[in-house]
Amino acid sequence: MKYAEVIGDPISHSKSPLIHGFWLKALGLDGEYCATHVTPEGLADYFATRAADPDWLGCNITIPHKETALAFVEDRGGVKQSIGAINLAFRSEGALVGTNTDAAGFYAPISGLDLAGQPVVVIGAGGAARAILFALSRVGVGRVTLLNRNPLKGAALLASFGLKGDALKLDAPLPPAALLVNATSLGMAGQPPLDLDLSPLPDDAVVYDIVYAPLETGLLKAARARDLDTVDGLEMLIGQAALAFELLFGAEPPRERDDELRALLTS
Ligand code: ATR
Repeated sequence: MKYAEVIGDPISHSKSPLIHGFWLKALGLDGEYCATHVTPEGLADYFATRAADPDWLGCNITIPHKETALAFVEDRGGVKQSIGAINLAFRSEGALVGTNTDAAGFYAPISGLDLAGQPVVVIGAGGAARAILFALSRVGVGRVTLLNRNPLKGAALLASFGLKGDALKLDAPLPPAALLVNATSLGMAGQPPLDLDLSPLPDDAVVYDIVYAPLETGLLKAARARDLDTVDGLEMLIGQAALAFELLFGAEPPRERDDELRALLTS
């Protein structure tokens, strides 16, 4: 049977098998999606073995392989130079192609906003922040205030995406902004909270948290208390998976059943 999988180290926490399994079943497709533990030392062997397996459709790639996996794929979209990390390898016309669906998955739920020239705030400067800043740079946002534990890392990131703005420490006061995104793990169960004073944000600002466990983070609670529009972390998780599903299995996932999928992911 044709199959795809998600690889990482560790991997048991991954929600990807639940998401892709839900869509495969919903569409009645003959295929499987599993989680496979692959260590950094085992990565080269993994790709060599799978390349010889005609049933393998490709894999999602998660921590810590998102950058190193670039060495085993064709980078047709120039992802190495832009986001610098891939989250998907899929077969296309006899080649194994690498791509990154995080940026588009992040952007899909806010694609209705007119962010051109608008000031935005991004918290974080890790891998997720890279995909998010890439997406924001493509829509031509205005000044970006990037808050991070290490502001130097934030400044380097802004420069690498050609974004104008300021890189500041996490406790810096927020500027007014049309969109605020948490791209760190702060607020996730077991992690310290993200304590921000949202009062400088205008009433029509949107607050987007990529953390999905818990789904209602302290940040989203604070945003709702101010009556701001919010986007939760399952949106990006499901969005990046939807694009990957199409590239792996060649079928559009049934997004009209997102409510059921969200219930499954939070049960
Ligand atoms: P991901 O791929 O999920 O983005 P990552 O690349 O490890 O993961 O990035 C995690 C982000 O969360 C980083 O911005 C990190 O801050 P640093 O760049 O200063 O390392 C931030 N982060 C994680 N734990 C944190 C903590 N306890 N306090 C402040 N920032 C934290």
